[in-house]
Amino acid sequence: MCGIVGCIGINDPVKYLIEGLKELEYRGYDSSGIAVMDEEDLKIIKAVGKLKNLEEKVKKIKFKNPFSGIGHTRWATHGKPTELNAHPHKGHFSAVVHNGIIENYQEIKNKLLKEGIEFISQTDTEVIVKLFEYYYEGDAFKAFKRVLDEIDGAYAILLITKKEPKKIFFAKKGSPLIVAKNDKEIFFASSDAPLIGYANSAHYLEDGEFGWVDDEIHLFNDEKEIIPAFKPLPSNKESAKKGGFRFYMEKEIYEQFDVLKENTLGRNTKDGIKFDELDKEFFDDINNIIISACGTSYHAGLVGKYLIERNAKIRVDVEVASELRYRDPLLSKDTLFVVISQSGETADTLETLKMAKKAGLKTLALCNVDNSSIVREADRTILLRAGIEKGVASTKAFATQVMTLWMLANYLGDKNEYDAINEAIEVTKVDTSIHEKIKRLSKRYLHGHGFFFIGRDIFYPLALEGALKLKEISYIHAEGYPAGEMKHGPIALADPELFVVALLSKNILFEKTKSNIEELVARDATTLTISSEYIEMTDDFIKISEVNHPMVEFFEMMIITQLLAMEVAIRMGNDVDMPRNLAKSVTVE
Ligand code: AGP
Repeated sequence: MCGIVGCIGINDPVKYLIEGLKELEYRGYDSSGIAVMDEEDLKIIKAVGKLKNLEEKVKKIKFKNPFSGIGHTRWATHGKPTELNAHPHKGHFSAVVHNGIIENYQEIKNKLLKEGIEFISQTDTEVIVKLFEYYYEGDAFKAFKRVLDEIDGAYAILLITKKEPKKIFFAKKGSPLIVAKNDKEIFFASSDAPLIGYANSAHYLEDGEFGWVDDEIHLFNDEKEIIPAFKPLPSNKESAKKGGFRFYMEKEIYEQFDVLKENTLGRNTKDGIKFDELDKEFFDDINNIIISACGTSYHAGLVGKYLIERNAKIRVDVEVASELRYRDPLLSKDTLFVVISQSGETADTLETLKMAKKAGLKTLALCNVDNSSIVREADRTILLRAGIEKGVASTKAFATQVMTLWMLANYLGDKNEYDAINEAIEVTKVDTSIHEKIKRLSKRYLHGHGFFFIGRDIFYPLALEGALKLKEISYIHAEGYPAGEMKHGPIALADPELFVVALLSKNILFEKTKSNIEELVARDATTLTISSEYIEMTDDFIKISEVNHPMVEFFEMMIITQLLAMEVAIRMGNDVDMPRNLAKSVTVE
């Protein structure tokens, strides 16, 4: 979730560094900093909090013909979010930025402390620059390699030094890093967005690749120099901008219609489901499926269980990756191991994928970021094609995950629901009159003692997801619950200050769910029912289309729960795109 940028041979490195870090803000951070090499010195500026604090400080610095630099946004893992702990970390003549975790940093730090080397931060990162300067004897690349040989863990590193000021040293293992270029300048970033508009082609570094750049890229793997494999960068930067919406999250809710069309293009056909990325033989000898994911992606996986078991008659177990990882699970070779991840960098999910591969299972990733660690690790990948998702609260990625799982279920079960899938896409076109109603309605839901989102069958995972959306951006407590479970304890909470959002499908267990709502209303809970059929006793009601397929209802209710969470959060005055304490991609456990 930290962000990294770097550049060399550019006449305004500060501009790229600051703009690049702004493109990475969505990943969540609590401090930031840049190190700039100019004719005079190596200048380091850092700030806690939002990037504008860093910008204010940078404006006061005089640079003399700056020509390179590195930058970083930090999401604290070792040490509190303070200026001292912010990156870049410096030595006497060098500076470093790093994403990931140096697992043996304490051992290295103790060794250097015994040598009289001082440390000023609580971070693991500082050992990189201190070790580099400890090993420096006139050859910077040699010293850099010695550092790489000694540190364990995950890292994306950029290091600059006054000893060889016209170079940037880099290394990648376990955390994303891209080196990109145009005809005369070289850039680094931890994801595509900062590079768009600057570079035109990129090499996505693989684990174990390292090297340095001057006016060329010198790339190594093991001890041999290799040629970068350049790929074109996405050209349209605007598609990552807000496009007139108040927040990226709002833009991304509205673009779900287009994104789902993209996601199903060439896959949902009149003749059934096609995946260019897959061949049926890949699924030979598969008798069951494990899905491993975190957060919203886990909720999508739960929907997948219902769909795959129903449409393909294959047993599915859905696991929270952080639990599965340490449970020493029984993994058999007739199991297909599926990981779902928007970012493709979630540490827990990635580690379960590695565990499954090590056990000899076939692995499939549903992921939104090509070239991400998870994509590169999995045997097969189905890309979500959701485009850059900048809002920390996932929306369009969730929509494409569920849609991809629906298509996968039909692919495995040879089931053709071509029209139903297109109907489900249609209902994700936001009805602005419904949005306006939700904006008005949201004022009633700001001060209760919490929310229950309830549903049955596929609407239970949607209830979980609706609750997560609300709590992660409004900071109001919310729980998703199986509607049939409320009477087994939670109904004790029912009173006018307990808000219940009921997902009432007409096509699945309508009467059962309706009676669950009645139980709550009878105890004076305040209920908002989302359904195609009005029910008298509910306090608030949002009507959805009268359709015959539960998945069409699912996608329309999804839009409503996303908008509800956003409008409540906006009324609370929260930063919808970068909620407190959260990061877009949790690359640490
Ligand atoms: C969802 O709104 C959150 N941003 C979070 O739960 C997220 O889904 C989770 O961290 C998994 O991320 P991934 O999909 O990138 O693996």
